[in-house]
Amino acid sequence: MADTDFYFEYKGIYLTSFYHSPESMKYIEEFSFRPDDIFIVTYPKSGTTWSQEIVPLIMSGGDSVSVETLPYQDRTPWIEDTRLADLHFEERPSPRIFTTHMPYNTMPPSFYKVKPKVIYVKRNPKDVMISAFHYFGKIPHYKDPGTLTEFLHKFLDGSKLPYGSWFDHVKSWMNVEDKERIIYLNYEDMVQNLEDSVASIAKFLDKSLDTEVIEKIAKKCLFKNMKNRLSNNSTNPSIDERMAELFRKGIVGDWKNHLSEEEAKYFDAVCKEKMTDVKCKWD
Ligand code: A3P
Repeated sequence: MADTDFYFEYKGIYLTSFYHSPESMKYIEEFSFRPDDIFIVTYPKSGTTWSQEIVPLIMSGGDSVSVETLPYQDRTPWIEDTRLADLHFEERPSPRIFTTHMPYNTMPPSFYKVKPKVIYVKRNPKDVMISAFHYFGKIPHYKDPGTLTEFLHKFLDGSKLPYGSWFDHVKSWMNVEDKERIIYLNYEDMVQNLEDSVASIAKFLDKSLDTEVIEKIAKKCLFKNMKNRLSNNSTNPSIDERMAELFRKGIVGDWKNHLSEEEAKYFDAVCKEKMTDVKCKWD
């Protein structure tokens, strides 16, 4: 099947036709964001679902009701999704929480004007690539990734992937001039010490939380706890097929189980070349 069976082009990147449409993109181009909106921004497979659990819990002061009663797409919707229009977020009280995978340079006009707070989560690109390889192979709305070697080259090129290249995405957000309203987090640091990350996000969002609440949120958002709670749709009918596939391993360095030494070296060399103007620390 051709790329056009799965994707359409928007401002130079592919978007997945199953979830987005030229009409949904027009809708957000005309949408009014507010300065107190909160944005979770990631390249796919970098910890989006995880952040979509953590941020609402921080904003509710640790109260789980909203995360347990509303599907994640409804409480922290992707601005680019067709379903956003049906959620009537224009009428929701502040602070609203949005999610997006869009690169910085493709954001809608109102975003640049009001400058909402942004939580940008990035992850080692080799792990992003492995995670995407498995995910695209499971969910029929994406083009089949082919073999891992084929996908590695596709990932490094980036032009034929939904949301475009990882390198362009990370660079677009890391190189934003006015960084005052952006917090940058690494998936790896979150795995290593989730309580610290929760505390940093809470501080950034001006939420003063007791240590016990931070601990409670971090515990609730541990991989095994989230997986148990959210990947079994026999107990929760709001969980869709996509959700069940979102919790695969949740570890750092899974690329080591998949890439040869030569492939990893090649990947690192391309990464170094493409990221000369950005500082990133990964093994
Ligand atoms: P893996 O496929 O490597 O396991 P996204 O939500 O952006 O699509 O990212 C999905 C990746 O985040 C998956 O990675 C998934 O397992 C991981 N993930 C989801 N929840 C997590 C959590 N609570 N802790 C650690 N990793 C998590």
